[in-house]
Amino acid sequence: MAQSQQQLQFAYWVPNVSGGLVVSNIEQRTEWNIEYNKKLAQTAEKNGFSYALSQIRFTAGYGAENQHESVSFSHAILAATEKLKVIAAILPGPWKPALAAKQLATIDYLTQGRIAINVVSGWFKGEFDAIGEEWPDHDQRYARSEEFIRTLKGIWTTDNFSFDGKYYQFKDYTLKPKPVQQPHPEIFQGGTSRAARDMASRVSDWYFANGNTVEGIREQIEDLRAKAKQNQHQVKVGLNAFIIARDTEEEAQAVLQEIIANANPEAVNAFADATRQAGAASPEGEGNWAKSSFEDLVQYNDGFKTNLIGTPEQIAERIVAYKAAGVDLILAGFLHFIEEVEYFGQRVLPLVRELEQKQQQAKEVA
Ligand SMILES: Cc1cc2nc3c(=O)[nH]c(=O)nc-3n(C[C@H](O)[C@H](O)[C@H](O)COP(=O)(O)O)c2cc1C
Repeated sequence: MAQSQQQLQFAYWVPNVSGGLVVSNIEQRTEWNIEYNKKLAQTAEKNGFSYALSQIRFTAGYGAENQHESVSFSHAILAATEKLKVIAAILPGPWKPALAAKQLATIDYLTQGRIAINVVSGWFKGEFDAIGEEWPDHDQRYARSEEFIRTLKGIWTTDNFSFDGKYYQFKDYTLKPKPVQQPHPEIFQGGTSRAARDMASRVSDWYFANGNTVEGIREQIEDLRAKAKQNQHQVKVGLNAFIIARDTEEEAQAVLQEIIANANPEAVNAFADATRQAGAASPEGEGNWAKSSFEDLVQYNDGFKTNLIGTPEQIAERIVAYKAAGVDLILAGFLHFIEEVEYFGQRVLPLVRELEQKQQQAKEVA
């Protein structure tokens, strides 16, 4: 089936760090403990979500004072579910590819092929300094991540793997057993900078974009796919969105205003400082948060920009507009995760599926 004919997929952010998905003192009925997360994962897989994305943080950033480690937390969620795929965030630097390949192959075996990886390149210098990790400059961080991905793929798919890179070396290495998933567990990656997109156009299976308008994401996807085509590579796109679905538009907008009115200015400003070192540090100055305002940063991946805020009908229409622009997956954050994942599955998703069918029929007639 051609990519455009496939149904849109849905992922949710795993709240494995404290403070939820917004840097705000608003009341959130979201917990970061494992009991809550198991129940959330079970609710999500019953309500049409096919992926969950865990986060990796070694120190606090954007609030997030407490952080559970991503790979072990992802495994616990997988053990509590049956169909959901969990994408574990891994940071080259603290992780070496030999360990990541082995660790994820074992989790793939234990979960009958349901682990995936998000290779994050690092944006927070303070975190790297605190744990004694080297902080290569922006584009070198991506050069290292690209070697990380190339070596993962090599180890997962071939015997007697050899590699002589700047950051990693392997000599006649054979991993046994190989992962269950063929050719290998899916590899995701995020970022907005030139280096991030170029890496995706060469080696990643999926590219995660920060929140954006339909026009903004269309341009980004055209750029990404044109480059990928030159490299004879295919890359799918996941778009971040903070979803506020309520019975009326007024209610949904009021929630957004309350989140922003209760923003924690100290944490948002500290985050803004850290992102300047990340985004502005890319040579072309087009990094992840280069165009983010204070309000945007209250959701730390620009999730309000996607504007999935309103009634189920409004949100479903906007979601299929994103699909028409080339998006394959919506990565969703919520204020009160469990109850809103359920509301989304029951009230929004059926409308999305109807509209997708109409969109498809219209295309076939044209
Ligand atoms: C959806 C998504 C999830 C991310 N998850 C993490 C994470 O868990 N930990 C982390 O340190 N960085 C994470 N990042 C940050 C990216 O890996 C990257 O460092 C950042 O987007 C800066 O990109 P830039 O090259 O555009 O400046 C995430 C980014 C996106 C878009």
